[in-house]
Amino acid sequence: MQYTTKKIRKMFLDFFKENNHKIIESSSLIPQKNSNLLFTNAGMNQFQNIFLGKEKYQFQKVATVQKCLRTGGKHNDLEQVGYSQYHHTFFEMLGNFSFGDYFKKEAILYAWKLLTDRNWFNLPKEKILVTVYQDDNESYNIWKNLIGLSVENIILIGNTPNNPYVSDNFWQMGETGPCGPCTEIFFKKSNDIFKISHLKDKKKYIEIWNIVFIQFNRINQNKIIPLPIFSVDTGMGLERIASILQNVNSNYEIDIFKELKKSILKINNLKKIKHTKSLNVISDHIRASVFIIQENILPDNEHRGYVLRRIIRRALRHGEKLGIKNPFFYKIVPDVIKCIKIFGEKIRFQQNNIKNILKKEELQFTKTLQTGLKLLKSEIKKIKNHQLDGKTVFYLYDTIGFPIDLTQDICKEYQINININELKNEINKKKRQSKQNKNKIKNLPNVIQNTYTSTFKGYNHNKITCIVKQIFVNQQAVNKILPEEKGIIILDRSPFYGESGGQIGDSGIIYNSKSLFHVQNTQNYATTIIHIGQIKIGSLEINDLVTAHIDEKKRKLIQNNHSATHLLQHALNKILKKNIIQKGSYISEKYLRFDFSYNQEISIKEIFCIEKLINKNIQKNINICDDHLNFEEAKNQGYIFFQNKTYNSIVRTLKIGNISKELCKGTHAHNTGNIGLFKIIYEKSISRGIRRIEAVTGKKALKHIYNQYKKNININKILKSNHESIIPKIKKLIINYKNLEQSNKQLNKNIIAIQTKELINKIIQIKKINFLNSEIKIKDRKLLKNMIDQLKNKIHTGIIILFYKKISKNIFMVGVTNNLTNIIQSNKIIEIIKKYANGSGGGKAEIAECITENINNLDQLINYIKKWIELKI
Ligand code: ALA
Repeated sequence: MQYTTKKIRKMFLDFFKENNHKIIESSSLIPQKNSNLLFTNAGMNQFQNIFLGKEKYQFQKVATVQKCLRTGGKHNDLEQVGYSQYHHTFFEMLGNFSFGDYFKKEAILYAWKLLTDRNWFNLPKEKILVTVYQDDNESYNIWKNLIGLSVENIILIGNTPNNPYVSDNFWQMGETGPCGPCTEIFFKKSNDIFKISHLKDKKKYIEIWNIVFIQFNRINQNKIIPLPIFSVDTGMGLERIASILQNVNSNYEIDIFKELKKSILKINNLKKIKHTKSLNVISDHIRASVFIIQENILPDNEHRGYVLRRIIRRALRHGEKLGIKNPFFYKIVPDVIKCIKIFGEKIRFQQNNIKNILKKEELQFTKTLQTGLKLLKSEIKKIKNHQLDGKTVFYLYDTIGFPIDLTQDICKEYQINININELKNEINKKKRQSKQNKNKIKNLPNVIQNTYTSTFKGYNHNKITCIVKQIFVNQQAVNKILPEEKGIIILDRSPFYGESGGQIGDSGIIYNSKSLFHVQNTQNYATTIIHIGQIKIGSLEINDLVTAHIDEKKRKLIQNNHSATHLLQHALNKILKKNIIQKGSYISEKYLRFDFSYNQEISIKEIFCIEKLINKNIQKNINICDDHLNFEEAKNQGYIFFQNKTYNSIVRTLKIGNISKELCKGTHAHNTGNIGLFKIIYEKSISRGIRRIEAVTGKKALKHIYNQYKKNININKILKSNHESIIPKIKKLIINYKNLEQSNKQLNKNIIAIQTKELINKIIQIKKINFLNSEIKIKDRKLLKNMIDQLKNKIHTGIIILFYKKISKNIFMVGVTNNLTNIIQSNKIIEIIKKYANGSGGGKAEIAECITENINNLDQLINYIKKWIELKI
């Protein structure tokens, strides 16, 4: 029987369908919300809550073919790809699951039957060996007594010393979550005499199927608790079982990879290759890249986008190893898509988009790759003790942009270690430096050493009484700030919001009966709120009792804009139907700015829909509530947070009805009605895959609409059009203009021809050399030059000076034929004119030009030039 991968997938699903399992589609590669995984790493992920008893499922027995990616966390195979014949980043996992239905006996019997029955996979029974968790007598007995496996072929695997439940045969999804003992099925590849010790020699046995008995939930590193229901979770890598059934020595030799590798060779015109491993890496990584991008992830420097970027870069580096010179990676996309139809037709429509994203990334990285590799290779050549110094690795990374993991990967190939301590030192040194630079920008060096904790009271108060705790003038800590002095005041508590989370700092006043300090800006420094400004009346001293009062009007506008930003993120998610990730924001009293990841143009219609939805939510006058929650709790409740930011254990949550939930420290309107009106004024891409929206709210939005209206009215007046006719009228004007331009060009040609003829008649001789000097009527530089060129062609040898007048200026152009430039140069003549008439300009020997003041006595100047020429010849 021909076991194509396609057939194997189908047989697997048919087998479990026959055994009353419901076939469920693969879930996305992006795990469900609240998961602690970056990418789906096993078939069981989508059923996580069912295993934990948190959710009930309509089916108790199911089977899937799941898209998986193992590039981080507990299950990371990225570095193995290229070294192992049986590991992938992206792979398909065949799995059957029981949620509180069948357990060990049935699960083992199903696996055995599918693998060995002659109507199914028909594998020779004697080549099968299993491992069992040391305490799991039940599974041991099933294999021994029910299946009849000889005891030699059942291997008990225990815990690693002093680590209960840390074992090859105790499977867990991640650091937390469902887990349990497992029994793994191995297949003996060679015909060697079967010996237990061979299990250690992974080259001889391939693990093909893992059957996990989910009985526990891991809460943390030291705690696991039993689950209310006992379940089964199995996983068999499609590519591995295919390698066995197709009788090949590597996953990379199965049908789908053979095809893929063939196309990589063809695309790059490669016949013989030295590095077959590199070909495997590229074929693995292109599959992973296509699947990740399909989930709307873009190459980035953080989070999932970084995994993608790493995979792409690793592949490009192997491309380089194969001697591929031009961008190639993106060209393989159509071939990958051909093999993965099973995951839906949708991916076909994304083909061009995926190609474009990969191409951009590839073009961008090529130069870095080449420069980095050149340097790294030359450094590697010099190495004597198998160790590369941390400084070089850091230089490659910091100056050239060559990723550290890529350096590590390459060093591994050459069996070279990296001096990690030295590398860490370099990284820390840089961190300290940039921190110092940051502080310099803030110009607050002393504050660092005198950090004082001030309490922010501005969520509920605009004005409070407080005590002056510290004062800085000219970057020095002082006891008193004197009249008119600029400086920094630190209070025990403050209603002033220090710039953070995109929201600008407050301004306002700090005063008492004798003194007044204008706060121009507020910043946070660690736990200190810093009021920056100038004393306008009197002076202030440490321990003075003062009133701190923010500019309430400004703060209200800022708050409205901040709440509007949350509504904007919600509307973007809804209208663009994507999980919008915030990439930056700026919120002031004037406008709001929101940067986010999105790789497409946003249409005018979409902009309108976004505005419509936001204004609808404003009109609903929804309450905006804040609260303080435990971070984990907030995460579980679905509050949006920044993946790469560190949060305190207690966080402030901000909720707008049931439409927006975010972790946010900023200040907000009480209800959406306060925002009044929302209007987008700018939408554009600011860098690859990142777009920016700027918007205004309330009166500012109204003003913006009014300005646009006014502009329209004025345009209509000028064009004598109205609302309906304006666009056709502009189009007509453009066409008319183009026609006029065309006929103007023709007219000018004619004029030049006529004028050139006339000018020829004006030519005189200076010592037998043609000399022409004339004013012309065309007032256009380009045409003037054109004329000089034509005249030069006609006279072969000579000097031409043409000029035209423009209000109070003269424009001169001088041309000298090439055969004379060794004695007379245009730019020299121009210098004479410039000097004579206070002009500016210059040029070359053949042609030069200048602009001068009006010249009353032109003849005098020309005579002078003629004499000069005479002397030169
Ligand atoms: N979830 C198990 C694994 O991935 C079956 O190995």
